[in-house]
Amino acid sequence: MPQQQKAVVLEAKFGPVVLKEIDVPKAGAGQVVLRVEATALNPGDWKVVDQGIIVQKYPLVLGFDAAGVIVEVGEGVEGFSLGDRVITQGWLESMDGQVHGTFQQYALAPTTCIAKIPSNISFEEAATIPSGLATAALPLYNQTDGVASAKLLPAWEESGRGKYAGKAIFILGGASSIGQYVIQLARMSGFTFIITTASLHNTDLLKGLGATHVLDRKLLSETLVQQVNEIAGGPASVVYDAISTTDTLSTAYQATAPGGDLVVVLHTPVPGAEENVKKIHIAFGVFHIPTNFALAKSLLSKLPELLESGEIKPNRAEILPGGLRAVTAGLDRLRNNQVSAAKLVVRPFETDA
Ligand SMILES: NC(=O)c1ccc[n+]([C@@H]2O[C@H](COP(=O)([O-])OP(=O)(O)OC[C@H]3O[C@@H](n4cnc5c(N)ncnc54)[C@H](OP(=O)(O)O)[C@@H]3O)[C@@H](O)[C@H]2O)c1
Repeated sequence: MPQQQKAVVLEAKFGPVVLKEIDVPKAGAGQVVLRVEATALNPGDWKVVDQGIIVQKYPLVLGFDAAGVIVEVGEGVEGFSLGDRVITQGWLESMDGQVHGTFQQYALAPTTCIAKIPSNISFEEAATIPSGLATAALPLYNQTDGVASAKLLPAWEESGRGKYAGKAIFILGGASSIGQYVIQLARMSGFTFIITTASLHNTDLLKGLGATHVLDRKLLSETLVQQVNEIAGGPASVVYDAISTTDTLSTAYQATAPGGDLVVVLHTPVPGAEENVKKIHIAFGVFHIPTNFALAKSLLSKLPELLESGEIKPNRAEILPGGLRAVTAGLDRLRNNQVSAAKLVVRPFETDA
């Protein structure tokens, strides 16, 4: 193992973001170190930089999603060994608030947020999974008391498989990374009507994942609400707004049945929410926090099987040449909404080429 590695570091609140040499981490108890073969970019990365959100402590390595090979195993680790191909999610250390990101060549990961990946999935595809899947699954299925969740029975467990036949789910932003995972989980949950909004060039992709109806995201809000009502015979019992701008939230709220569940991904105020007749849950898509541990364990242990069988398909990965040097330009594309139905991925070891 080398002593030093390359990493994309946010030096202080609001920047600068620099590519620099830092120490290779060492695995503590219950942790592994992985050689990062691929890491994916998320809108959260540029928001951490521009808006100063989530993070309390600087400097930090940016990046929320990685796939690689375990190269060091800490004390007490069970179920994972040297050489395993795994995914992990960037994580927050509850002891000191330090964020551990994935835009680096070697990343530290607690076993609470890693899963093995089967041989039919490439590292680049695998890197698209952790944050999108976590943010899709946790606010729909987490059973922990007091946690924001629709508390559906987990789609991948026997008790929840096909459980919601006859019901409708409406997913705003089906082509987003999160939206694609929500569609697939909804299919496993058995929802009869899986209605989503997207640019229509993404229709075949989303129907392939399980959407039953794809509505043009450019339609007026009242038209979208009316179409959901016509398709499902009334408002949807579950709505997931994977975009959560004021416009989409207005549509999402109106399309939710009274007493139904509306999941949102941002802290944007929901127009209409003051009437207080629908349950609104704000997603917190992070596996490594204590209130999410139980659901994370259940999902991450089942994930290799779901990926191998094709029940869960990764997002399409667009690989950016140049390794970690490509991160800044990639984040600009996300900032400017220039990515459709894909996840931007870099290979950290290409940085040295
Ligand atoms: N709360 C949490 O824990 C949490 C965690 C992760 C992410 N997030 C947030 O969740 C949001 C989505 O993240 P992501 O990574 O899934 O995004 P993403 O993949 O980068 O989203 C891009 C997609 O958004 C779709 N889109 C944009 N505006 C839309 C609209 N008005 N209606 C329908 N679709 C629209 C586009 O669809 P088309 O190509 O079809 O036009 C595009 O494909 C971001 O704001 C992110 O910061 C929150």
